[in-house]
Amino acid sequence: MTAHDLFTPVRLGAFSLRNRMVMAPMTRMRAAPGGVPTADMARYYAQRASAGLIVTEATSISVQGSGCLNAPGIHTDAQRAGWRQVVKEVHEAGGLFFLQLWHMGRISHPSFQAGGALPVAPSAIAPRSGRILTVTGMQDYVAPRALDRKELPHIVAQYVAAAHCALSAGCDGVEIHNANGYLLDQFLRDGTNHRSDEYGGSIANRCRLTIEVAEAVTQACGAGRVGIRFSPSSSFNDMSDTTPLPTFRHVLRELNQLRLAYVHVITASDEDVRHGGVAVPLVTLRRAHHGPMIAANGFDRASATRLLAEGGADAVAFGRLFLANPDLPERFRADAPLNAPDESTFYGGTSAGYTDYPSLGTQPATQP
Ligand SMILES: Cc1cc2nc3c(=O)[nH]c(=O)nc-3n(C[C@H](O)[C@H](O)[C@H](O)COP(=O)(O)O)c2cc1C
Repeated sequence: MTAHDLFTPVRLGAFSLRNRMVMAPMTRMRAAPGGVPTADMARYYAQRASAGLIVTEATSISVQGSGCLNAPGIHTDAQRAGWRQVVKEVHEAGGLFFLQLWHMGRISHPSFQAGGALPVAPSAIAPRSGRILTVTGMQDYVAPRALDRKELPHIVAQYVAAAHCALSAGCDGVEIHNANGYLLDQFLRDGTNHRSDEYGGSIANRCRLTIEVAEAVTQACGAGRVGIRFSPSSSFNDMSDTTPLPTFRHVLRELNQLRLAYVHVITASDEDVRHGGVAVPLVTLRRAHHGPMIAANGFDRASATRLLAEGGADAVAFGRLFLANPDLPERFRADAPLNAPDESTFYGGTSAGYTDYPSLGTQPATQP
């Protein structure tokens, strides 16, 4: 195998990707009021269409699932119309586009909820650290309301409706966001799931909602159009789990029967471990999952190439490098210098730090 393996095609579900470089999902908080995607968002994604696959920023599946200012949604007609224009421009530029389905669960705030209701979660446990940005500024998290067993089919239905909405907007597929401490991750892990019904307690019970959502979304979209993302080693959003390896191994084994387009794993970083995360080896997850796997977190050209050469994953997702380098595949291919990402413009703001990162040949690039 050669260094060009990043540039060989790969099959993920219903699609053949032209290269193995995935644009990782990244929240940019630049949607219009009402969570409506904008012309600038279309431009941003279309600029990055040379990725083998683009996974969008996390996108709220319902009002209940929302909790991030200026993040887009996929549950109203206006949102669908906005996404339709984004997808059209990405497709015209030759890109492949999966939308990330997001229910934030307890990482929300009453100010985002209908009637100022409490956010929902598996159990009434507030995140111990961190605060949330609301229309009136930073606020403490509140203890969420534990979802009643009878409400869980409605949670599954929210994912299905949003997936339908995404496909009807022209998206090629959807990625179920089961990572980073949001609702499905809250169910999976025992730091946040203290339920005593069949959705809590044992590993099989904690994995139940994820599997139900994946099954239902697969039925709605076709398995070849559905991926799912996990962050087994992360403690982000105050997550913890006394049994991370068996939990994630179990859920991946169960998901095998669905033949999803891919499983997307955020690998363990030193920072995760410093913050209390337990490193779950990618190789163990790779063995548990029989279908295509995407790996993400801190990869560069060399480490991604090495991982692919070792067979550690089928594709690699790049976040900050794609954010700052719209033409990342071309730059990797040419071994060209990279633009450095500017953290001050990651979240919210104008087109500065969003659609103005230069491609090769447009403006001189800066070395990171
Ligand atoms: C600005 C920013 C926003 C992010 N938003 C999301 C998101 O919406 N959904 C998600 O699953 N991960 C999100 N992530 C995590 C990235 O997808 C990725 O896992 C992370 O940046 C590590 O990859 P990298 O080192 O290639 O940047 C975000 C990361 C960044 C930097």
